[in-house]
Amino acid sequence: MQTYRAAVIGCSRMGAFIDNEGIGHLASEVTDYLARNFPKSHAASFFAEERIDLIACSDLRTEVMAEFGNRYNVPKARQYIDYREMLEQEQPEVVSVATQPEQRAEVVIHAAEHGVKAIYAEKAMAASMDEADAMVEAVERNGVKFNLGTNRRWDTGFDKMKEIIDSGELGALRTLIIYGNGSLFNTASHNFDLILRLNSDAPVAWVAAHLPDGDKIIDGNLVREDPSGQGMIQFSNGVIAHALLAQLGWEAICEKGSITSFRDGAMWQIRRQNRLESFPRFERTSSGANIVTDLVHALDTGESTRGGVRVAHASTELIFAFMESHLRNGERVDLPLKGSKLRLQRDRAPRQPKFKP
Ligand SMILES: NC(=O)c1ccc[n+]([C@@H]2O[C@H](COP(=O)([O-])OP(=O)(O)OC[C@H]3O[C@@H](n4cnc5c(N)ncnc54)[C@H](O)[C@@H]3O)[C@@H](O)[C@H]2O)c1
Repeated sequence: MQTYRAAVIGCSRMGAFIDNEGIGHLASEVTDYLARNFPKSHAASFFAEERIDLIACSDLRTEVMAEFGNRYNVPKARQYIDYREMLEQEQPEVVSVATQPEQRAEVVIHAAEHGVKAIYAEKAMAASMDEADAMVEAVERNGVKFNLGTNRRWDTGFDKMKEIIDSGELGALRTLIIYGNGSLFNTASHNFDLILRLNSDAPVAWVAAHLPDGDKIIDGNLVREDPSGQGMIQFSNGVIAHALLAQLGWEAICEKGSITSFRDGAMWQIRRQNRLESFPRFERTSSGANIVTDLVHALDTGESTRGGVRVAHASTELIFAFMESHLRNGERVDLPLKGSKLRLQRDRAPRQPKFKP
């Protein structure tokens, strides 16, 4: 069976060590769910896929790469400070880009231009709309398979939720609620992708939003921190989404009932007319591993991935449309978004990964 050579760029938490992070403060059903949902990091997800050989890594921090090497059997000779040199020397077919969004576009575009066939890029896709546009162009022109790490698109619980919506048994989808939208780049990037998926990637007509700390955070065209944002998203097919800053969870409200997911997919409920029902059983799997398997399938067959660079661009556009609406005092901003020059540019050091569980 053919295997693909993979490399990780950005070997910190999401790149390699998030699997070690403590989950002890959560209720047992949540920890149980999360434990069964591992692997989570890119490296652990590559490791779990028998069709992938994880052969190299790149990070600016040599001590982080040394730990990566110990854990994932990547020798020192294949640990690179310069990802360009790594791509030239190692010629991987699959690359993961688990840096922060400020460094995403440069790395993805260089990889797409230098022979990489498939890219697993973390969310948020990019630090600006110009960078997101350039990524779409480079990825498509080079025929690269692409998935963004918005994990719920590959989560079997949300697959089941979408299956019920699409079956029409609850009537037509009318409203989507994001209960805890959170910070736009870090958390809402997940939420926006999820509502796009639940609404079958229908185009968005307009958004209207408010960022509680937006006036402090947005400085001309520079976005100095990752701002939280709440607002409305009107889809062109009539479905409306409301993004709140309340608590974790999502709800899809249809004409004759609703489906709610609480506690990050650990608990689910269906309301049919005025009756509450339990959610159907489904097999819980690792969404990270599913993202990698999807890329392998696309490489094998030439078919598209479930995500793709256009879908990634669509959720990124919502992040920037929220900020643009805030700057216009909550005015409706029409999509496709035009002329946004905002750029996320934080002054922050990378976080210290947890090397041991
Ligand atoms: N999908 C999820 O559930 C999930 C969870 C956590 C984090 N994330 C995302 O993953 C990304 C990374 O998050 P993190 O917490 O691991 O970040 P981090 O800041 O801890 O790590 C980023 C790493 O990238 C490295 N880096 C920066 N520039 C580089 C370059 N040019 N070449 C090679 N390495 C470079 C840094 O040295 C650092 O080790 C973020 O975009 C974050 O939003 C996603």
